[in-house]
Amino acid sequence: MISKVVVKAPCSTANLGPGFDVFGLALDAYYDTVTLSKGGKGIRIQSFDSIPLSVDNNTAGIVIKQMAKKFKKDGIIVKIKKGVPVGFGLGSSAASAAAAALGFNSLFNLRLDSNTLVKYAGMGEKASAGSIHYDNAAASLLGGFVVVTTDPLNVLHLIPPKDLVLCIAIPMIPVPPKKTQLSRSVLPSKVKISATVRNISNAAAIVVGILKKDSVLIGNSIKDEIVEPARQHLIPGFAKVKKNALQAGALGVTISGAGPAVIAFATSKSNSKKICKAMEKGFASAKTECHTVICKPSKGATVI
Ligand code: HSE
Repeated sequence: MISKVVVKAPCSTANLGPGFDVFGLALDAYYDTVTLSKGGKGIRIQSFDSIPLSVDNNTAGIVIKQMAKKFKKDGIIVKIKKGVPVGFGLGSSAASAAAAALGFNSLFNLRLDSNTLVKYAGMGEKASAGSIHYDNAAASLLGGFVVVTTDPLNVLHLIPPKDLVLCIAIPMIPVPPKKTQLSRSVLPSKVKISATVRNISNAAAIVVGILKKDSVLIGNSIKDEIVEPARQHLIPGFAKVKKNALQAGALGVTISGAGPAVIAFATSKSNSKKICKAMEKGFASAKTECHTVICKPSKGATVI
């Protein structure tokens, strides 16, 4: 009988432009590690990072609590080591939630299917985002590219092309508490049919690009006329960062998830370092420092 499991889950980017709350891509850049052990009574969270340690306010804690209730288990110690920067739009809460769901499944040998694991991981997202959405959690759990459909929840999982490269710029700005709630509150309640049509066409083209392993088609279709225009004012220098990255050869640029990180899509033929430098200059024009990282898509959460 297993008494301890260690799970590593990747960060992710959600939306990819037109796929708001539907698309997710796991990224080989940062990882959270969650260790689950059997012992004692109740659920205890332990971490040296500055994250909530109460079960009901911790993304992994919520997942474990729901799963423990459903599968009638008790006495679980949850150790969390954050590697994903918290609050920048890289699926930090989802990474811990995904690792927790996979870890619980493994610790108690439940053999749950991936949709069920995503459902539990999504519950953890509620702690930070205020609403359940599964894009980051699904990507972090399953890896690669995901399309999430709801009612009923069904995650379609696809392998992205090998030559897809992502350049991420993370601005060093203070992240407001409940950032995702804030960035969802600025979204329009009504949208133009013309913008909707263009978003749908670009979203469809991204899926075709993934299926045909065409990174150029993917990158050229990262265009969002609905969410990005409503959110960009929350990111200092966004317009310049985007313009600079496109001029430096990025195929498409958008906000990573709810931001404030900005993500540029490129291929292994692009000059990724030049794109990163261009994004840094864009942020500098708004007197904002940023940290850049070049990465590839990642596989999903794994028991290590
Ligand atoms: N799809 C979500 C959003 C991801 O953009 O609000 C944030 O976690």
